[in-house]
Amino acid sequence: MKTLFVLCFVVYFNKLLRTGECSENSDQVLSITPKTQEHVDILKNVSTQYETSLWQPDSPQYIQEEMEVHLYVPARTLNTFSVHVCFRVLLANAKELIEMQTKNETTDPRSSASYYEKYHSLNDIYFWINQTQQDNPNIVKVILIGSSSEKRPLYVLKLSRNKGPEKKAMWIDCGIHAREWISPAFCLWFVRHSLSFYGQNQDITHILDNLDVYILPVMNPDGYEYTWTTNRMWRKNRSVSKSDNCIGADLNRNFDANWCTEGASDDPCSEIYCGAFPESEPESQSVAHFLRSHKDSVKLYFSIHSYSQMLLFPYSCTLDEAENHNELVSLDMAQEAAQKIRRYYRNIYKYGAGGKTIYLAPGGSDDWVYNLGIKYSFTFELQDRGRYGFLLPPSHITQACNEALTALKTIARKVIEKM
Ligand code: ARG
Ligand code: ZN
Repeated sequence: MKTLFVLCFVVYFNKLLRTGECSENSDQVLSITPKTQEHVDILKNVSTQYETSLWQPDSPQYIQEEMEVHLYVPARTLNTFSVHVCFRVLLANAKELIEMQTKNETTDPRSSASYYEKYHSLNDIYFWINQTQQDNPNIVKVILIGSSSEKRPLYVLKLSRNKGPEKKAMWIDCGIHAREWISPAFCLWFVRHSLSFYGQNQDITHILDNLDVYILPVMNPDGYEYTWTTNRMWRKNRSVSKSDNCIGADLNRNFDANWCTEGASDDPCSEIYCGAFPESEPESQSVAHFLRSHKDSVKLYFSIHSYSQMLLFPYSCTLDEAENHNELVSLDMAQEAAQKIRRYYRNIYKYGAGGKTIYLAPGGSDDWVYNLGIKYSFTFELQDRGRYGFLLPPSHITQACNEALTALKTIARKVIEKM
């Protein structure tokens, strides 16, 4: 049940709850568009002083006038604070949604299609990796590229149809940010699609005939596990910095691309904390190490995030244009990918250079990879645009993944042509 209404100026949440408009004691997600600098300041204050979780943008420091802000507010916080700006309730039943996402989690066998239409715990995903390798020993190799700060293994699946000599490769990572559950779901989806439809679907057959594919289903296993057990809204990894009592660094601010400049934070308590130094985090270091040693074969890089529906490419660490900007944006790449999603799925994806399309965000994997020499480097932000945000219901997994798959295939085809 979704309640949607607009309230203006000086709204007291406890009064709101008493009107019975929203379900008793439920966590909510509010959408707020500050109109003045005063509103901006109030919002920054609310999102830092109260127990809330900022969904959009990723950090209060990005909040500005006329920007739509999404704020997750737990029921206990709703009861205690008042807001002095316009807002509407995006989600009135956030708790129910969270429960829905973790239900029936282990009931489907890994072979059934419905397995891929659900979210899975970290343990389940480890099990799935193992099983997928055992069921497809000639195609799937599992590579241990390192371990997380809590010492969980980082496994990469290599899909390789051995036809002829060593092939060029494509890389896909999922789950850099813990709460973006649709992202690991996409990596699993992609692997299943590759294994089930090779020889039947023309696009995936063409891709696998020409490229090996490396897939890292969960780049931030500690954070992902934490979202299942403790805090669904966690974003960063779970590393402990010596000096401070705040935990975790933002892995997508920890790469060596204008590291920790504007758009990142050196405050360990920030959601966009850049870490102690570039690649200080074992997760980003492991990925960087692997890609450095495979930089001549990897021609195409994808990093999968949510939400906001965007196809992004470098740069995010500067407003400067990438050297092949026109090629990346052009009809054959991001633009065509977005057009296909629009045509096939009637859904709108924005596309463009990260810095100009969302905001400056230095230290990202895509920019680092690009500077390493992998000139086709993309970050996808999957569904949705805020209706459910990070709590995208399992019933939306199919379309969300198919949209991303369409974009990925479109871009991969073009890159193969250019190889
Ligand atoms: N929402 C993503 C983030 O803040 C955007 C990623 C775009 N690329 C980047 N290098 N920042 O991490
Ligand atoms: Zn993300």
